[in-house]
Amino acid sequence: MSSKQTDLVKWIDFPSLGDHRGSLVALEGNKIVPFGIKRVYYLFGTKPEVARGFHAHKALKQVAICITGKCKMLLDNGFEQAQVWLDSPTKGLFINDMIWREMHEFSPDCVLLVLASEHYDEADYIRSYTEFKELMHE
Ligand code: TYD
Repeated sequence: MSSKQTDLVKWIDFPSLGDHRGSLVALEGNKIVPFGIKRVYYLFGTKPEVARGFHAHKALKQVAICITGKCKMLLDNGFEQAQVWLDSPTKGLFINDMIWREMHEFSPDCVLLVLASEHYDEADYIRSYTEFKELMHE
């Protein structure tokens, strides 16, 4: 494994604090979420035939959680790819920096919540797959 190659699929299982009234998941930065949370955003209303993402981040770390519905996440560390379904409100997918990601096959009811380690910064994006591959292999 190259020094740049990181494990692709890292799940975080969130304890469900359920009782007879229903379920509750609490997410705390620098605890179950392995970074301080500076930003939260969510994707919804994405059509099943639409794919999103197609970028990597130089420094940003994220945790993606499908609160309802499901979608498929493709991850690529420049050496290997993995595809996983996000389909549980009690499972978070940790996405490290320098991981190319694509999201496909959104169910109509999908709400994808993303916790981010940094504020939005377009300069942190790598939007060219060719550039991403070159950076990972240099
Ligand atoms: P984009 O990065 O294209 O979404 P995705 O990678 O999920 O397909 O973001 C869509 C638009 O929203 C784009 O104009 C940038 C803007 N945006 C923000 O202003 N702040 C944010 O935190 C995010 C994630 C996106």
